[in-house]
Amino acid sequence: ITVDWTADDYQADGHEHFMHKEIVEQPEAVHRCLRGRLDERFATAHLGGLNMDPREAREFRRVKILGCGSAYYAGQLGAQFIEEVARIPADAEPASEFRYRNPVIEKDTLYVAVSQSGETFDTLVAVQELKRKGGRVVGLVNVVGSSIARECDGGIYLHAGPEVAVASTKALTNMGVAFALLGIHLGRIRDLSPADGARLIAGLQRLPEQIEAVLKDEERLASIARRLSAAESLFYIGRTRGYPVAREGAQKLKEISYRHAEAYQTSELKHGPLALISPDVPTVAIVPDDDLVERNTGALHEIAARSGPLYVVTHPGVELGDVSAEPITVPKNETELDPIVLTIPLQLLAYHASRELGHDVDKPRNLAKSVTVE
Ligand code: AGP
Repeated sequence: ITVDWTADDYQADGHEHFMHKEIVEQPEAVHRCLRGRLDERFATAHLGGLNMDPREAREFRRVKILGCGSAYYAGQLGAQFIEEVARIPADAEPASEFRYRNPVIEKDTLYVAVSQSGETFDTLVAVQELKRKGGRVVGLVNVVGSSIARECDGGIYLHAGPEVAVASTKALTNMGVAFALLGIHLGRIRDLSPADGARLIAGLQRLPEQIEAVLKDEERLASIARRLSAAESLFYIGRTRGYPVAREGAQKLKEISYRHAEAYQTSELKHGPLALISPDVPTVAIVPDDDLVERNTGALHEIAARSGPLYVVTHPGVELGDVSAEPITVPKNETELDPIVLTIPLQLLAYHASRELGHDVDKPRNLAKSVTVE
């Protein structure tokens, strides 16, 4: 294992904040995560670090993903991707909860620990408990040689490069990419067709330029962030694979702008939170161009009817009809990979809201970059 950077090599390089530098670095970070791992001939991903031969990898009947905070939200995305693409039942749980239960550890479950720092104590203890009970654990970790990486039986390094800002951005994006690689790998030794494997690989290769395109929209996103930062309380809503995107968007805003942001499943709005919609409570809605687009736009009507300001993260060609909303359009990828690109504008919204409010963007109050305590 080699580490190709040291802390001294890493500076803000003219950016006002590390978070900004790390957002802008994402296209390159994604390239690094993909490098040497795509096999176009067999339409699969090479993941030698998993230390698992195909016969073993075929035996898993379930995937359980563990991480904390944003890494847990990335795990929720990963679980949906793996279940959809590899057709293995998969779910994610906060490691901080898992470690205090007495979970049943099954030998045909693949456990996946996700962590940028590789030092998050709750995730580390969850891995140790799993290992003690004989569970097979692989790590999706950014920091090479970190405690979690060392405890795991194998894994996929994220290769995002050093991340200094407390609010994780490029490591999160690469978690999405690494889960996609894992899903394709597991899928192609099962029933994922070569055509679908190739389709997803081509989608992964398009990610860097698509992220670049979102970054070009920064000025407009900054002006939207100025308006959002005036609200004391906001909703972030999304459905199925859009829901972890909404959770991540709300988390980022809370962390660094100290605004109350609540993520909800769009489908659950009518079961309670709709009562809170008013002209003072903006909603950031994730509305991808997928088979749920009509359902999602229906919910937008409900919000607009209650004069709730709407900001809609969406794809070109999605018709919002007569709903009064500010669209934030990002390039369309393969449906399964869309969440990765849909998350990028939410990072910039949180960054500029925090900056606008004059907070310490890189070191928000009460938070540490890695939570190495109980
Ligand atoms: C992300 O913006 C947060 N700072 C936080 O939720 C973080 O993702 C969490 O503490 C887990 O950290 P890790 O990825 O280093 O394990």
